[in-house]
Amino acid sequence: METEILYLNGEFMSLAEGLIGVEDRGFQLGDGVYEVIKVMNGRLVWAEDHLERLSRSLVEVRLSEALQDHPLPSVLPELVRRSGVEQGMVYIQVTRGSAPREFVFPHPPCPTVLAYARSRPAPTVETILGGIVLHAVRDQRWARCDIKSTNLLAAVLAKEEAREAGAHEALFMAPDGMVREGGSSNVFAVVDGTLRTHPLDHRILGGITRRRVIEMARDRGYRVEERGFTLDEVLSPAGAGPELFVAATLIDVMPVVRVDGRVVGKGRPGPVTLALLDALRREQALLVGVRPPPALT
Ligand code: PDD
Repeated sequence: METEILYLNGEFMSLAEGLIGVEDRGFQLGDGVYEVIKVMNGRLVWAEDHLERLSRSLVEVRLSEALQDHPLPSVLPELVRRSGVEQGMVYIQVTRGSAPREFVFPHPPCPTVLAYARSRPAPTVETILGGIVLHAVRDQRWARCDIKSTNLLAAVLAKEEAREAGAHEALFMAPDGMVREGGSSNVFAVVDGTLRTHPLDHRILGGITRRRVIEMARDRGYRVEERGFTLDEVLSPAGAGPELFVAATLIDVMPVVRVDGRVVGKGRPGPVTLALLDALRREQALLVGVRPPPALT
């Protein structure tokens, strides 16, 4: 049975009991950072990597002291246990807290730290094999997309535009036509057997799934280039079997079969994409102690 439990500023309570001040800076100013960690078999997947990225985000927004009284490596498993979530996610948010509204930092600092778990089914085999559709939009986000900030308005608008266009995910494009990343995912292309993805810089989020995909691909002998690409490079060479996929915590590796009106490769998930997804799913199953799902390839 799932119970909605919230960890808020050091205490566990029911989610409905959680009260955040009207002047919380996360609410008024988007002055906060967050993480999403996958839960499988009641266990957290790659939690250390997510907590490391959370620490980095906190340093970058000058909130590095916020977690000193919050031992998240022990709090989060306890939260998942109390919540009874088997398959789903943990959401963590840290803001600069509640204080009379000013742009400059409050003194002394008073961060809000919260986390809760939610059930959510993993993508079905039908969804994976059907692939998803992307909708390209101009990237109108700020210049520090490497920080996992709660300032998500540009992504909210882009993803809604994608949904209204009948697509599943937005694709953030640079003014020069380079593919940056998805609305809430990283993007990979496979061209002539080589994986390509945008390099790690301030224009994209350094995804945990992205890192694992790169490691697994290299382990399996694929060439990986962290070098941007245009849609023309990926969609035009129809004969070479180009592939495109997105990668993120709650969707793992998800094949892309169309970008707006343009079909990717043969219009179905490519073999490299599915092989990498199989490898990722095997690694996760091993980590959380369940039997690996049947191979997709
Ligand atoms: N988003 N790029 C962006 C802009 C993202 O928001 C995300 C994840 C990723 C993938 O990162 P990771 O593999 O660490 O999940 C890339 C989360 C899941 C979200 O906002 O819900």
